[in-house]
Amino acid sequence: MCGIVGAVAQRNVSQILLEGLSKLEYRGYDSAGICCIDNNQLHCIKSTGKVKNLKEAVKEKSCPGFTGIAHTRWATHGIPSETNAHPHICDNLALVHNGIIENFATLKERLIAEGYNFKSQTDTEVLVCLIHSHLKKASNLLEAFLQALHEVKGSFGLALIDKNDPSTLYAARSGSPLIIGLGIGENFIASDSLALLPVTRRFIYLEENEIAVLTTENVKVYNLDGKKIEKSEIESDLDAESISKGPYRHFMQKEIYEQPQSLQNTLLGRLDKDDISLETVVGIDDSSFKDIDAIQIVACGTSYHAGLVGKYWLEELTNIPTNVEIASEYRYRKAVVRNNSLFITISQSGETADTLASLRLAKQQNYKKSLCICNVNGSSLVRESDYTLFTKAGAEIGVASTKAFTTQLLSILLLALLIGKQKGAISQAQNHEILESIRKLPALTQEFLACDKELATLSEQFSGKHHCLFLGRGVMYPIALEGALKLKEISYIHAEGYAAGELKHGPIALIDKEMPVVVVAPDNSLIDKLISNVEEVRARGALLYVFTTKDTQFKADDQTKRVNLPACPEILQPILFTIPLQLLSYHCAVINGTDVDQPRNLAKSVTVE
Ligand code: F6R
Repeated sequence: MCGIVGAVAQRNVSQILLEGLSKLEYRGYDSAGICCIDNNQLHCIKSTGKVKNLKEAVKEKSCPGFTGIAHTRWATHGIPSETNAHPHICDNLALVHNGIIENFATLKERLIAEGYNFKSQTDTEVLVCLIHSHLKKASNLLEAFLQALHEVKGSFGLALIDKNDPSTLYAARSGSPLIIGLGIGENFIASDSLALLPVTRRFIYLEENEIAVLTTENVKVYNLDGKKIEKSEIESDLDAESISKGPYRHFMQKEIYEQPQSLQNTLLGRLDKDDISLETVVGIDDSSFKDIDAIQIVACGTSYHAGLVGKYWLEELTNIPTNVEIASEYRYRKAVVRNNSLFITISQSGETADTLASLRLAKQQNYKKSLCICNVNGSSLVRESDYTLFTKAGAEIGVASTKAFTTQLLSILLLALLIGKQKGAISQAQNHEILESIRKLPALTQEFLACDKELATLSEQFSGKHHCLFLGRGVMYPIALEGALKLKEISYIHAEGYAAGELKHGPIALIDKEMPVVVVAPDNSLIDKLISNVEEVRARGALLYVFTTKDTQFKADDQTKRVNLPACPEILQPILFTIPLQLLSYHCAVINGTDVDQPRNLAKSVTVE
């Protein structure tokens, strides 16, 4: 949450900062601000709303300077307003902050007593004043910065400038991601490398509790005790092209359409005849999973839904008892950890605060190993887990997760096969059959996308609806949950997913003629059970939208609309049936006129708990 960009260069940096902010807008978009140093003066411009408002304000007022910081905000303390927008200034210092300072109230009281005045309601203004207060006694700003950071509790990614020292940019990381971009005669910091791709592909990842001091020629990194740390440089394989919308109207639409390719990329180099090549999972060897007797999966949101599907597959293909839990719950309860347990996190960003905190907790518990299924190389989860299985979806910009989810599912399926094989739980024939199906996945995904036009038309019947139910059974139940999440988050239609067999235990009371019910109904081993459940709903007058394959027994009538999808292997159904649900949400959102890529109140990377 919140995006930070900073630069120290030998040219005006405001355009670099603003372009960087646009790429980070997925992290928060309720207000934005920029501050550059010119002639030993701080020039600060802020605006509410999106980065485009800030761009207009900068065009009008101009913001010169070779050193600067900028921020796009997702409010935590105080309403979205110009006053609360970052950067926050205290005399000669300007600071931008991603995260939460938990003890800000106590610090604020002390600073008020020292004579500081506060204009905003933010914790960030408290922090910049705290640094300023230390600077009065410290020998330099680095020392004051370190002293202040020793006093704060909470999480932060920070960028700090001082008008009295325009050639230096300071940054610090604890709990919120921050990377350094290396240029020639210029250096940068940002919350995500995506922001800096137009200026560099060379990066240094800051670790927890590290401080960086950047000048045009140098980058020095220290720990919180002021001890210098040697860091290595990483060259990114992303390019600026991969983060443009191309011919698509929205990033979400582009990302839905990229799925044949992203799933292909997930498989690339990983299938070798009837084997899954072991390098797929960074860190493992032939026997890493042989002794695993239990699996705990932890994730949030859409990634949690991927974990729920994973439970069905892992138990079926490995015989290992598997538990799945929402990270924000896991981290605050006493979990009983069985001997020889594997701890799996799933995350697109690799920076989700609750998932990361759960991993850190798990490392103090009795787990044998930790594995993360993640889309972002160099992210915190990747760096802190024993093994990593990269989903290889490519950069996902739309706030609603689409290609990240389907590649997570494919990755879990590969992992289940790999573990199943190491445990001797899966026959050669079954392994062969599943791998043959998996090879067809990218082409089948393309076929499923062909329902787009039909769904665009169908979505018109949803506009104006306020509620919707999604039903599924077995492994399609988490897909119903994901369909409901996608619809509510981007179209703002209230939607809930239910296991179809559970409906009669309460939710059936909601059914009437105004309630559309989407049934996720591929032809599989539970189809007869599902048909009976759907009859109960039809008898109560619901409007049914049945997403199914050609040969199932659902009748189309005034009350029931069939969406016929291509036949596909049962093991791939959770992945493939996700696609029409994504398209349904997308078109409903477009019809409802919502901000598809940046829905209200959301941020893509949730780095606060
Ligand atoms: C929904 C969505 C979120 C994320 C969740 C976890 O479309 O994107 O629910 O799935 O915030 O994020 P990651 O996967 O980055 O840990």
